Amino acid sequence: MEGETIETIQFGDNVIIYEGVNRVFVHKIVEHERYDSKFGTFYNCDFVGKRYGQPIFDNKDRNHIYALKFNSLLWTLALEKRTQVLYLPDIAHIIAQLNIRAGDTVVEAGTGSGSLSHALAEAVGPTGRLVTFEFHEVRAAAAKEEFADHGLKNVTSLHRDVLTGFHVDDAAVVCDALFLDVPAPWSVIEHVAESLRPGKMFCSFSPCIEQVQRTVAAAAKAGFTDIVTHTVDVISYDRRSRPVFDIVTQTINQLQTGGKIVESRLAKRDDEESKAKAAEVAESRERAIAAMEQLIPVLPRGVTSQCIPMKEQQTHKGYLSFMRAPIPFEGVEIDVEVTTFMKGGKRKGRGRGRGKR
Ligand SMILES: C[S@@+](CC[C@H](N)C(=O)[O-])C[C@H]1O[C@@H](n2cnc3c(N)ncnc32)[C@H](O)[C@@H]1O
Repeated sequence: MEGETIETIQFGDNVIIYEGVNRVFVHKIVEHERYDSKFGTFYNCDFVGKRYGQPIFDNKDRNHIYALKFNSLLWTLALEKRTQVLYLPDIAHIIAQLNIRAGDTVVEAGTGSGSLSHALAEAVGPTGRLVTFEFHEVRAAAAKEEFADHGLKNVTSLHRDVLTGFHVDDAAVVCDALFLDVPAPWSVIEHVAESLRPGKMFCSFSPCIEQVQRTVAAAAKAGFTDIVTHTVDVISYDRRSRPVFDIVTQTINQLQTGGKIVESRLAKRDDEESKAKAAEVAESRERAIAAMEQLIPVLPRGVTSQCIPMKEQQTHKGYLSFMRAPIPFEGVEIDVEVTTFMKGGKRKGRGRGRGKR
């Protein structure tokens, strides 16, 4: 567009190097230094002045990589993990369900590797604030340094144990959303209620259902409402071109090998019913193979697109429990019912909230 200035890479920038799927790295463009990879050596001076997304060639002009502009999404893919981290499907769901908006104050613990923190800081924007707590000294210091290096001025990063509360300068932070990724979230529910504005949303991430049950029971007891637990599953499918002919011959091979395994298992059993079943399976397999073989002479020789689930997906599976902070109304006791679902059926427990409605 006319008048639009095109941003180019400069010394001092943190760029995201894209070498391919699951090969994404952070690199700082420092003068007189270079980036080494299996694709070659890339001098930092060759990045400078290039537009983000433009290919950068190695010193032998053979291979190329891409340098992308830093953002929270790419940071999550590229960061050096100090802990388990949250990935994009969970992060997107957390931000949407917590209804985080520009200008909000959000509290998070623990900071861990700062994967979620970067996305939260981006979501609240320069007019908002993220206060993030981490009790592991080295991790807290590393995160603080990264926030500063990435220019995140809206982040307050504190080395503190949240079991004693979400405090900045000895006063509890008042916030619009609160997120916990700590091992015993149920033991800080009282502090969550203290910091979160009435009616605002809280989310706790736990890797196992027993932790979820303790957390939602404690939250219900403390008067939290609208309690729900979600799991997020996103499967990425890769598109590949394959000859039609290959697909049919591969199916025939699968029928031959897979079918034989089933038949031999059945045949090993010493009863008439299994033997009859094995014969039936073998017959239907032969019929299917014969039908597919008839197709081979008339198959088009072209290629077709196939969508295949990607094998390696970055994910840290767990449960996200969302709930609303108590809204105190005079005179009415909260009577809450906690329902958790487990394998094999529904379990219920009751709790009486402290708050008044
Ligand atoms: C799994 S990591 C969090 C990862 C983070 N959500 C991310 O996406 O990068 C959990 C972190 O919580 C910290 N932690 C555990 N208990 C804590 C507590 N009581 N107060 C503060 N931090 C705590 C741990 O040291 C650890 O770094």
